[in-house]
Amino acid sequence: MALRFVRLMTPSRIQKRYHVTTFGCQMNEHDSERMKGMLEGIGYVEAAEQAEADLILFNTCSIREKADSRFVAHLGHASAVKKQRPEVLIGVGGCWAQSVKDEVFSQFPFVDVAFGPGQVHKLAEFLTSDSLTAQGYFEFEGFAGDLPAKRAREVQAWVQISVGCNMNCSYCIVPSTRGREVSRPFEALLAECERLAADGVKEITLLGQNVNAYGRDLRPERRQFSELLRAVDAIEGIDRVRYTSPHPKDMREDVILAHAELPSLCEHIHLPLQAGSSRILKAMKRTYNRERFMDRVALIREHVPDCAITTDIIVGFPGETEADFRETLEVVEEVGFDGAFTFVFSPRRGTEAAEITEGLVPHEEKVERMQRLVEVVQRRGHERAQRFVGRTLEVLVEGPSRTDPTRLRGRSRHGKAVNFTGLALPGETVRVEILSASSQTLMGEESLLARALV
Ligand code: SAH
Ligand code: SF4
Ligand code: F3S
Repeated sequence: MALRFVRLMTPSRIQKRYHVTTFGCQMNEHDSERMKGMLEGIGYVEAAEQAEADLILFNTCSIREKADSRFVAHLGHASAVKKQRPEVLIGVGGCWAQSVKDEVFSQFPFVDVAFGPGQVHKLAEFLTSDSLTAQGYFEFEGFAGDLPAKRAREVQAWVQISVGCNMNCSYCIVPSTRGREVSRPFEALLAECERLAADGVKEITLLGQNVNAYGRDLRPERRQFSELLRAVDAIEGIDRVRYTSPHPKDMREDVILAHAELPSLCEHIHLPLQAGSSRILKAMKRTYNRERFMDRVALIREHVPDCAITTDIIVGFPGETEADFRETLEVVEEVGFDGAFTFVFSPRRGTEAAEITEGLVPHEEKVERMQRLVEVVQRRGHERAQRFVGRTLEVLVEGPSRTDPTRLRGRSRHGKAVNFTGLALPGETVRVEILSASSQTLMGEESLLARALV
């Protein structure tokens, strides 16, 4: 009895506990960090499992149909928890919530609070209000408050430089879930980066849907993305700067040159191709063609020869013929991407491409094209990775290897996952000799001589 009493009195029993499940891209990962920071600011603590939480949150994604269905399955599980413990609060944030808005409540009556990506800060308002009757928050407000983030890793941080997207890619749901593009003020961003550096952060990843369009909307003074890169590079303590995603149409020479000139800017550019056929790129409204994309790649190779280039590709866009698809294979072959995320086209509600009824690619054909694409992506990725064998790379250690806890895992400046033997601790930057390479991972051993000399 006495033991039970003591347990009830420990702070973790008294404080309310939250659990967040995150779906989708780095933006969502970072929004979840901000939700966690905010919740801890109002006295909540993180629960290890959903079953122990007083507040169950989902930060949702809607980029492809699969993302929707995965989340709906999770929500079903939360509803079962709520049946057993009716006092539990269930919240749904993110892009899926934004895309269905108040329908969340009619479809899933057990949800207590729903909010879009621009309304993360409203969650605290809801939780601290007197009445907890179901409410939804779906306005776009530009950047939603400078919330403290609870970082997943000590030395790595995300910094959101803009919200929304002004592009109009015909397949994409993001402009409708994240609203118009708004850049965060230059000075506020630098202040955030300086705070992070003072807090021990070594690697910063700048986030936005179209990062290299940053600053054009700022007033009175317009800013350029390359200016931001320079300013972040100049901050003492920041060893690595990354960004995602740039748009090929805005990939100007000043940004590429920054990779050659700025010591902290990593030798990795994620440049989403989407399709190799200019005809399909036009139908996708990507605003560049195959030649322009290849020209950007040539410029990168000219100024930063060792730069890793990765990409996103969609197969089976409506109207994509075998000849169009072959052009995608040709570009993949020619560029030799270090890696690629490949997706089967998924029609999204409210998008232009979802309305197309002609030239739809049958499912089996999409799957078959995907297999052929993955084969070329992996073969070229494997070939590209061989250039690292025999070299000693700087690796930022993330922790033990997921497959073999006696080994360590980290990332090279090229964005490559490195699996190695050594003595390093998470957060350290060490030199690793690369002994072999597959398309996904480099294998190596820590250069202990370098450690002894330091
Ligand atoms: N803003 C980023 C990417 C956002 S979404 C950019 O423009 O590059 C991430 C990737 O998901 C996209 O690059 C695209 O390849 C893929 N994607 C987006 N909508 C899709 C859809 N309807 N079907 C399949 N893949 C999609
Ligand atoms: Fe979507 Fe295109 Fe904007 Fe990327 S640039 S988020 S693909 S609309
Ligand atoms: Fe990201 Fe998914 Fe939204 S990819 S921007 S969380 S639709």
